Amino acid sequence: MKRMLAVGVFALAVAFSGSAIAADGAAIFKAKCVACHGPEGKGTPMAPAFAGNEFIKTSKEADILAVLKNGREGAAKKYKQFAMAMPKQTLPDEDAKAVVAYLKSLNK
Ligand code: HEC
Repeated sequence: MKRMLAVGVFALAVAFSGSAIAADGAAIFKAKCVACHGPEGKGTPMAPAFAGNEFIKTSKEADILAVLKNGREGAAKKYKQFAMAMPKQTLPDEDAKAVVAYLKSLNK
């Protein structure tokens, strides 16, 4: 009986910690991207919008992840109207994927 209780408590702990560490794409976006890309990814005079963005809409997850990992500077830059470069991001894989899922969700 005691043993079953222990197993139950363990399972509960796993269930809770699982949801606590699941990366939250919207929160990561707010913390790391909003200054340049604007609230809800609507863009600013410094960086492009993500809502209604063809690149985000049509690209594979891996290609968007590559922009995060490598940034876009110099010759790699796509938008001449934004003087700034996209700085390389150092995010854990899980966080990078969560934020890409958030960008995709802005285009549904
Ligand atoms: C210091 C400002 C800045 C920050 C912070 C920033 N970006 Fe960017 N980002 C840019 C600029 C400027 C561009 C456009 C670069 C270009 O000309 O290709 C860009 C481009 C992008 C693109 C390509 C968009 C397209 O239409 O091709 C993606 C994806 C992106 N950023 C994601 C992010 C994410 C996700 C974060 C947060 C983790 C982030 N950026 C943080 C400035 C920023």
